Amino acid sequence: MFNASQLAMALDRDGEEPIYRQLIRHIRAQIESGSLPAGARLPASRELADHLNISRISVVNAYAELRSEGYLSAHAGRGTFVARDVSPNRADPDLKPNAPAPVKEANNADRPLREMMRLARQAGVINFGQGAPSPEFFPVATLREALNYILEHDGPKALGYEMPEGFAPLRAAVRDYVGALGIRCTSNDVLITGGTQQALDLVIQALVSEGETIITEEPTYIGMLDIARTRRISVHGIPSDHEGIRIDLLEQYLMEHPTRLIYVMPSFQNPSGSVMPLNRRRQLINLAHQHGATILEDGVYHEFRYEGDHIPPLRALDDYGVVIHASGFTKMLLPGLRIGYVISDSKHHQRLVRVKQAADISTPGLNQRAIHLMLERGIMAQQLERNNREFYRRRNAAIEAARRHLPPSAQWRIPQGGLYLWVRLPNNGPTAAELYIPAIQKGVGYAIGNVFYPNHPDAYSMRLNYGAHRPADIELGFKRLGEAWRDMAQSYSDIERQLVL
Ligand SMILES: Cc1ncc(COP(=O)(O)O)c(C=O)c1O
Repeated sequence: MFNASQLAMALDRDGEEPIYRQLIRHIRAQIESGSLPAGARLPASRELADHLNISRISVVNAYAELRSEGYLSAHAGRGTFVARDVSPNRADPDLKPNAPAPVKEANNADRPLREMMRLARQAGVINFGQGAPSPEFFPVATLREALNYILEHDGPKALGYEMPEGFAPLRAAVRDYVGALGIRCTSNDVLITGGTQQALDLVIQALVSEGETIITEEPTYIGMLDIARTRRISVHGIPSDHEGIRIDLLEQYLMEHPTRLIYVMPSFQNPSGSVMPLNRRRQLINLAHQHGATILEDGVYHEFRYEGDHIPPLRALDDYGVVIHASGFTKMLLPGLRIGYVISDSKHHQRLVRVKQAADISTPGLNQRAIHLMLERGIMAQQLERNNREFYRRRNAAIEAARRHLPPSAQWRIPQGGLYLWVRLPNNGPTAAELYIPAIQKGVGYAIGNVFYPNHPDAYSMRLNYGAHRPADIELGFKRLGEAWRDMAQSYSDIERQLVL
């Protein structure tokens, strides 16, 4: 066992960072450096609190957070231990030795959580953890017909290399499609990409250099955190509320840290479901303009609205040319065809095309033609209408099930679109990570909220994708989740008592 005096750390009692956060940082660093080895027992919370002359609740909170991040494990009656599967440095195997940490600590610390989330793929588990709509929505017969038509009419032309910018008729169709959302552009401003994910990655490669920092909302899309890690850039998360990124905090940050790129999802944000109102959209654009920053707008859920009024994308409101718009026909139609796009002005477009060509020469022409045909024949619009009707039904089922089965003091907002319910569990029970395995054992999975935070994780948050499940499964899944929470809350309060005493 490590005694309290072996856990040497200098705490800044007058600084802005709360003591329990400093404690988390120090203990995490000691685990990562190997000076606290796997299996080591930590001092009891009272002993450490007395030794450091801090409150016991700070230690309890720090231990709870580190447990939820997978660094520590607690065993009722025996104490708190460094988790067995934590290796020194937790380095990404893709990174060169001694490379600077590309993304801040919390983001690397979520790796065991991500691995845990794979457990939800077992048969019999109702998995609310994935990010895609259900395959039952995919228009398989229509695609078959479209592919046959294309192969008959275009033959080998559909199977060769395309222009790196994309298949010209699809670029024109995208221009018209985004035009209906209020975005004015020419087809020369459109670059076709391998899904929205590649669109985001290309923008990062084209605009941001290794070692630089970008701004995101906190929480944000996990795929952007992955891009940041692999491109070796840092992420600074600006806290968000139910209307998106906090403009006051963003302004404060930009005044002290000029930053080139701000990544946001203004409509039905992933994971929180927030929608940025019109006035905040305008404020954001003005702020970016004043500070010489570019906004990367991710519009992949923009059209998933089933209630409330349409709000134009940022790019449609942009009089200064500061917004790059990325989106795709994946979530709303066929994720596997991997068709996305970027709309940008010529100063970025040329560079993006070069980066795209270096990445993969061109997006498959057959897939581009299939999406083009579906747009031309109005299938996209039909599909969207049908999906949104069904998502609305499922959203209602999720809200009813949440009211019936989730703990009474759990919090959520009713989404007006998108696929996700973002839930905050009460603090007096298990964290989302602690609940995860018991929930899987009951037959339900979800996305652990911590993985979406670049800097300051919230251990009690979780994302539930109701859009991927039928109402009966939503009801059953939420019931299982509620039962898992109640069972665990009981044993959790016993463990917590052990830690505090
Ligand atoms: C916010 C957001 N952006 C981008 C993507 C990537 O989408 P695509 O399948 O179009 O690459 C996702 C997928 O989950 C997403 O949630």
